[in-house]
Amino acid sequence: MKVLLINGSPNAEGNTHLALSEVAKALQADGIDTEIVWIGKKPVPGCIACNRCQETGVCVFNSGIYTEIMEKLPDADGIVVGSPTYYAGPTGSLCALLDRVFYSLGRYLQYKPAAAVGVCRRGGSVSTVERLNKYFEMTNMPMPSSQYWNNIYGLMPGDVARDDEGMQTMRTLGHNLARLLKALENVPRPEAEEHAWTHFVR
Ligand SMILES: Cc1cc2nc3c(=O)[nH]c(=O)nc-3n(C[C@H](O)[C@H](O)[C@H](O)COP(=O)(O)O)c2cc1C
Repeated sequence: MKVLLINGSPNAEGNTHLALSEVAKALQADGIDTEIVWIGKKPVPGCIACNRCQETGVCVFNSGIYTEIMEKLPDADGIVVGSPTYYAGPTGSLCALLDRVFYSLGRYLQYKPAAAVGVCRRGGSVSTVERLNKYFEMTNMPMPSSQYWNNIYGLMPGDVARDDEGMQTMRTLGHNLARLLKALENVPRPEAEEHAWTHFVR
């Protein structure tokens, strides 16, 4: 089994990477393969609501990090998304990416366990995790918990290594995710009802 971890920070080796690495180490210790993909520093287009993906199954901006993730998702049994906190939310680039990934590639995500990790200097990472969880919650993705909310603290790259409780929270999250993956390994996906769409228009 394999977990794909997405680093939504513009810093390749910053605090989010360190936090995700701690989750990854715990997963590996429990026999789960891991791969961390980095969002990079290039501009990431957001969803333009063209709805072409609903016909083709792929975003019209099929390039860069979007394509990289699309190609890796079929082999992933679970995902972890990590982000620094920017004004009490995930980075703009990460939201731009995930809006398109979840809108167009739900078929590769449904029923796979998922977790979010929020990094911050001082405050707002709870909102970051909550925002990221929204993607999973409307994609039928089971979410493991940890011993605390999935937050870790640090300002400059490397700082989070000194947040002992945060690092332990990351390890616990990795172990709990491994446990959930194994528990669900042979559980068939449910027969889903046809999705009812109610748009609150008269
Ligand atoms: C534009 C911007 C906004 C930020 N907003 C917050 C914030 O709302 N709360 C906070 O505690 N830290 C905030 N930070 C600090 C980062 O979350 C923190 O430095 C984090 O460790 C960076 O992670 P990274 O090393 O993975 O990039 C902000 C940083 C930037 C650049």
